[in-house]
Amino acid sequence: MRAVAERRTEERPAATRDDALEALTELVRADLEACNRVIVARMQSPVELIPRLAAHIVAAGGKRLRPMLTLAAARLCGYRGDRHVKLAACVEFIHTATLLHDDVVDESALRRGLASANAVFGNKASVLVGDFLFSRSFELMVEDGSLPVLAILSRAAATIAEGEVLQLVTQNDTATTEARYLDVIRGKTAALFAAATRIGAVVAGRDTEDEAALEAFGMNLGLAFQLVDDVLDYDADQVKLGKAVGDDFREGKVTLPVLLAFAAGDESERAFWRRTIEDQEQGPNDLATAQGLMRRHGTLAETLRRAEAFGAAAKTALARFADCAERRALVDVVDFAVQRAR
Ligand code: IPE
Ligand code: IPE
Ligand code: MG
Ligand code: MG
Repeated sequence: MRAVAERRTEERPAATRDDALEALTELVRADLEACNRVIVARMQSPVELIPRLAAHIVAAGGKRLRPMLTLAAARLCGYRGDRHVKLAACVEFIHTATLLHDDVVDESALRRGLASANAVFGNKASVLVGDFLFSRSFELMVEDGSLPVLAILSRAAATIAEGEVLQLVTQNDTATTEARYLDVIRGKTAALFAAATRIGAVVAGRDTEDEAALEAFGMNLGLAFQLVDDVLDYDADQVKLGKAVGDDFREGKVTLPVLLAFAAGDESERAFWRRTIEDQEQGPNDLATAQGLMRRHGTLAETLRRAEAFGAAAKTALARFADCAERRALVDVVDFAVQRAR
């Protein structure tokens, strides 16, 4: 089995963006439908505003990427039970709760192609319903009953919050280092991807090496995903993205495209970044100027190259698993994450 397992995972041509996520969705369809039923059942509450607000963001869709990762990772590990369904719902609840809170913190008006929950229901309701969904996720973990799963997911929830707080304190600071930026995205995004895939190995009772491999896969995929997201924040079709382009700039987030442009810039360019990012003095043409500077220094392309490198590491982490439909679909998800910027 080891000989098969160590076959390189990059032998096949990279999947195109459109079919890359489709394959995973098809593969886990039945489990995902069950997961969606758990999500709808568990967002109910006699306090009517809770299901109304939750339904707003849940019905808006979203890719369901993280729950699909849990479902596929469990199947990759040969799991045949149904614990992974509730755990996948739990992962999506954690994600949805962080989105509700994130849009308040980021003052974002658009999410999943619709007005954000904070725009429709206000900040207070969004924060409180986010708390409700977090709490529901803990109920689901406890129902599962596995202390190792509880440890992984509760740690991830704390790490996400740490990443968001670390981002808050590095915001508007052009002296932010690349290492610090990576700490932020590892916390706010990659940690949940890593937990989502790792618990697949845990429910299947796999050894710690397989657990670590799936964790490494999720971590590297999550880093690639957020790097690409940070490119898309400057360079995307807003309708396709379903989120506002330029939010990071308006908020003064020092993401990698900014960090690299600041480092490559001359004195007048640095003055521009200090004014717009540090001092938050922005005029109507400044976003376009920022985009122009990024193009001049190739920092969006460079950010994508970093994403590709993390994507390659994610694929390598899967090499120990035997070739199967799940492994192929997970490899294709890496291509989806990287190529969604093209
Ligand atoms: C959005 O994640 C938050 C980030 C980590 C960038 P997704 O792009 O997976 O959001 P949905 O769930 O599909 O809306
Ligand atoms: C994504 O944060 C991570 C979390 C939601 C915790 P961002 O602020 O970078 O993501 P978008 O652009 O709002 O989806
Ligand atoms: Mg945001
Ligand atoms: Mg944010």
